[in-house]
Amino acid sequence: MRYYVISALVVLPLLALLSMIAPLAVKPAERPIGPEMAVVQPGAADPSRGEALYRSKCYGCHTQQANVGPDFAVSGFKTRYADDESIIAILRAGRSPMPAFTEKMLDEQGLADIIAYLRSLP
Ligand code: HEC
Repeated sequence: MRYYVISALVVLPLLALLSMIAPLAVKPAERPIGPEMAVVQPGAADPSRGEALYRSKCYGCHTQQANVGPDFAVSGFKTRYADDESIIAILRAGRSPMPAFTEKMLDEQGLADIIAYLRSLP
């Protein structure tokens, strides 16, 4: 009997606490979509996605350390490539030893994202 009383004393406050916490733990999908959950529009270039792509596909050559291709952070890149089409043309054609980035390796969206990232560099 005594055991039941003690365990009730422990369990009941715990349950009360849990019921207070539970509403806070709403699954993300059930949260209303507000400005803080800004979703990237399909088709819009996203520099942060571009940065991830750049790190996986370009970074190995285009840094001062690698020094295979020019480091875009210091190469005056933006002034030399004012238009996106010239960058796209270079990437699609390749420039030895840089491979040609075909549609299969880098789709239109990825290309736009990478360019947005390069443009966002200081
Ligand atoms: C295998 C190494 C390598 C990889 C990977 C690579 N590049 Fe290059 N890239 C080069 C080299 C080397 C050059 C310079 C070629 C030349 O003009 O002699 C170059 C040139 C360029 C140029 C022209 C730069 C200029 O100043 O004229 C652009 C733009 C460029 N790369 C973008 C990229 C992007 C974006 C990626 C990733 C999608 C990438 N490269 C991946 C090696 C690489």
